[in-house]
Amino acid sequence: MWNIWNWMKNEKDIMLQPSTECAYLSERWLSYDKKNLLDIGCGLGVNSLYFALKGFNVTAVDISDYAIKYANDIAKQNGVHINTICGDVFKVNFEDGEYDCVFVRNIVGAQTKKELKELIEKITKSLRSGGELYITIPSKNSKEYQNMTAYKKAHNIFMNVEDIKKFFADYEIVNDIEEKIFYDKYCSVEKVHEDCKTYYFSLLLKKK
Ligand SMILES: C[S@@+](CC[C@H](N)C(=O)[O-])C[C@H]1O[C@@H](n2cnc3c(N)ncnc32)[C@H](O)[C@@H]1O
Repeated sequence: MWNIWNWMKNEKDIMLQPSTECAYLSERWLSYDKKNLLDIGCGLGVNSLYFALKGFNVTAVDISDYAIKYANDIAKQNGVHINTICGDVFKVNFEDGEYDCVFVRNIVGAQTKKELKELIEKITKSLRSGGELYITIPSKNSKEYQNMTAYKKAHNIFMNVEDIKKFFADYEIVNDIEEKIFYDKYCSVEKVHEDCKTYYFSLLLKKK
C-alpha cells in the first residue's frame, strides 16, 4: 500500500490553489479537443475544479474520503460536475482508451519501481492513442534520495533524465524535461527531510 496523505494532519492551505501547470495544460488540451480528463490522486480537487471550469469532463480519483468530500463540495459550490471516485487507483477499473489526458501531480514518490510500472501500465491502457499524460516524478537530485540506503536507492522511483527516457519508452516526451523544486513550505508539509529539498521532473508525455 502506498503512503496515504493525511489530509486531517497536514496543512492544506498551499493545496487550495490549482497548480501553475493547469493553465498551460488546459489550453493545450482544449486546442486539441482533448476533453476527457482523469486526475489521479486529486487531493482536495482544486486542479480537477480548474479543468472542470474550463469545460473538461473530469474524473477525479483519490483514496482519501476527506479529500473526495472536499472535491465534491467545491465542485458543487462552483456549479460544475466532477465525477469523483473514492478508492485506491490500483483497484479502480478504467475502460481502455477512456481518457484523452491524465493528470498525476505529486502523488508519485513513496512507491517502488514495480508499483510505478503497474500504475503507468494502467494509465497507458486508459489513454487513447495520442492521449497525453502529465506527471511529476521525483529527481535523484533530491536530498531525500541522496540520504537513502543503497537498497532503497535501487528500489525507489527517484529518476534522472536517462531513467525517464527508459521508463517512459512507450511515450513521446513532449516538453523539455524540466526539473523544478518544491518550495520550502511545501517541503516542511511533507516532512520528508529536515532541510528538505525535493526536486522533481514535470513531464508532459504523449502515448505513441
Ligand atoms: C500530495 S497529495 C497531491 C494532491 C494533488 N494531486 C495536488 O497536486 O495537489 C497526494 C494525493 O494522492 C492520494 N493518493 C495516494 N495514494 C493513492 C492511491 N493509491 N489511490 C488514490 N489516491 C492516492 C492521497 O490521498 C493524496 O490526496
